[in-house]
Amino acid sequence: MEKRVGFIGLGSMGMPMAHNLIRAGFEVVVYNRTTSKAEQMVSEGAKKAGSPRELADEAPVVITMVSDTPAVESVILGENGVIEGIKPDSVVIDMSTISPQATRRIAACLGEKGVHMLDAPVSGGEQGAINGTLSIMVGGDAEVFERCRPTLEAMGKNIIHVGSNSMGQTVKLVNQILVAGTLNAVVEALIFAQKSGVDLEKAIDAVKGGAAASWQLTNLAPRIIRRDFQPGFMIDLMQKDLNLVMGAARELKVPLPVTSFIQQMYYSLQSAGEGKSGTQALVKAMECLTGVKVEQVE
Ligand SMILES: NC(=O)c1ccc[n+]([C@@H]2O[C@H](COP(=O)([O-])OP(=O)(O)OC[C@H]3O[C@@H](n4cnc5c(N)ncnc54)[C@H](OP(=O)(O)O)[C@@H]3O)[C@@H](O)[C@H]2O)c1
Repeated sequence: MEKRVGFIGLGSMGMPMAHNLIRAGFEVVVYNRTTSKAEQMVSEGAKKAGSPRELADEAPVVITMVSDTPAVESVILGENGVIEGIKPDSVVIDMSTISPQATRRIAACLGEKGVHMLDAPVSGGEQGAINGTLSIMVGGDAEVFERCRPTLEAMGKNIIHVGSNSMGQTVKLVNQILVAGTLNAVVEALIFAQKSGVDLEKAIDAVKGGAAASWQLTNLAPRIIRRDFQPGFMIDLMQKDLNLVMGAARELKVPLPVTSFIQQMYYSLQSAGEGKSGTQALVKAMECLTGVKVEQVE
């Protein structure tokens, strides 16, 4: 088992994930574009690298957890990137949510240097990252996956190898179709409940344990009826993921009518300045359509 791990991207997900690696006994080398976040990790036992290249030179396993496809391409393939420092037979594990097509390209570039890649996007949000309970869906070679299993187990609980390179990212997009569609159903149900005059809190309590049960209903519906739009997961990030979904669907010539509708609703919210709100602010777009405001009456 590799005990030294490089970690690139100390954002709201990456920082707690890197903490959990330290807690599990790994020697962690960190790099972050904004250096103050990496310095914070040094006081907690990590070593700081000056660039992704320097980090890759020191660690046989390199994890990336950055915003989007261009960011992953930049830290892995760009100037002073991972590819310039990494040794043959090392492994790059990208845990960001990015394009499956780009993942295949990055894996091919690393493969030319004898370096393995796993795409291992996550679900479970910041709280899952803090608790070390993320769901991790992994694409790549099965043997490489087994080699990296202890590393992944320091950050997550439900860790499934789903196929070859890019299949992890593809399954993450499956996850996002489900998340967006379920939230849309929750919002539609709340609009209907509000207009019907039922007590919203009681309605949620009555249905959340039955066939309509979902994470969105249990966690987001109570926030919606209290008009709490603080982000667990921001609309801007969801829109980034829905763009990846629609791009992949276009390539496959698969129509996604409901997901496509939800994406348009999210565009309307971004245009109204709600990009940094939580995804549950979807209700605001539906309120504009219906003229019904969802709010718990005390
Ligand atoms: N937040 C969630 O609930 C959640 C859940 C599941 C999956 N994800 C996915 O996890 C990934 C990270 O999300 P997050 O919430 O941690 O994002 P975040 O808090 O915005 O952090 C983004 C990280 O990426 C770095 N970065 C961005 N562009 C870069 C570039 N061009 N070069 C180098 N570094 C760059 C940032 O560096 P700076 O500090 O310098 O800005 C920061 O460390 C995303 O792909 C997201 O879709 C997020």
